[in-house]
Amino acid sequence: MIKKRVFSGIQPTGQIHLGNYLGAVKNWVDSQDEYENIFCVVNSHAITTTQNPKELRKNTYELAAMLLACGIDMKKSNLFIQSEIDEHPALSWILDCNVSMGEMNRMTQFKDKSAKNPKNVNAGLFNYPVLMAADILLYQADGVPVGEDQKQHLELTRNIAERFNRDFGECFKIPEPMIFKSGSRVMGLDDPTSKMSKSAKGANHAIFLLDTPDVISRKIKKATTDSQTSIVFDKNREGLYNLLGIYEIFTHKTKEVIEQEFEGKGYGEFKSALAEVIIESLKPIREEYEKLVSEKGYIEKILQAGATQVRPIAKSTYNRAKELIGLV
Ligand code: TYM
Repeated sequence: MIKKRVFSGIQPTGQIHLGNYLGAVKNWVDSQDEYENIFCVVNSHAITTTQNPKELRKNTYELAAMLLACGIDMKKSNLFIQSEIDEHPALSWILDCNVSMGEMNRMTQFKDKSAKNPKNVNAGLFNYPVLMAADILLYQADGVPVGEDQKQHLELTRNIAERFNRDFGECFKIPEPMIFKSGSRVMGLDDPTSKMSKSAKGANHAIFLLDTPDVISRKIKKATTDSQTSIVFDKNREGLYNLLGIYEIFTHKTKEVIEQEFEGKGYGEFKSALAEVIIESLKPIREEYEKLVSEKGYIEKILQAGATQVRPIAKSTYNRAKELIGLV
């Protein structure tokens, strides 16, 4: 049986946090056997915000090491760096010319990001979702496993593809968003009303995959909760709900079992148990990362092989789009 193809990407804009891991990377790893997998470190997306070139190079390489440490297995998946394949920006341009300003103006992430950083609103940031559409459509992906925050970008991708196929001829597969029920929206520990994000400033906002056990315990202890005492899944108690959701994923226990486990117990006990389970779950990743990150030659070889393998797929789709649109 032919496996369905999934494509997903992640930006090398600093260390990855529990939101990236639970909303995306863990799902990529867990479903590797089920699909034909293509994963991409999207460094061209990263330059939509100001980057130090040296840092960007380092972050790109370190993120690749981290994805391997998380369990991306090169026997089952492909991993490559976006800027290695010239067809991404090339297709993006063709798609840019086939998307309306009205559609682009509705993108909420652009509105959020430009409001947060009004001094650095560049055209690339505005066109970011079109480059993302090009990433996905180039590889004829059946599915795109992402966190909830990418839903609107995937709807745009589908609309762009459907319209292109209708107006110029069959070119792109229409990809399905794969947004998992749990972990798709991990919230900030210091503010459970906003999603956990790399750019948030608070020292206790996010748990990063390379945080030490002490730091993880401290952050969980300080996580915002409420003045009630029971440990139950209640969406209205946002802080606790977020923490319980993290506990649920890492322990694989059901909500009922978790509520029973903490019946009659308070935040102190729950937070210690949560910190413990996060520390234990991240420990093998951290250890593997420490081993891998010093093996620069090995990582570079993997990334080169990844790009070599996917390049023909990208070229074939791009050439077809180019021909359909009349550029050849
Ligand atoms: P990025 O790098 O911001 O995030 C990588 C993945 O992590 C998910 N994520 C979260 N999930 C749950 N809770 C959170 N708090 C949280 N924060 C982030 C994101 O949804 C994402 O799946 N635009 C993409 C990168 C991209 C891409 C693509 C993805 C570029 N091209 C093509 C898929 C397909 C992004 O910003 O990811």
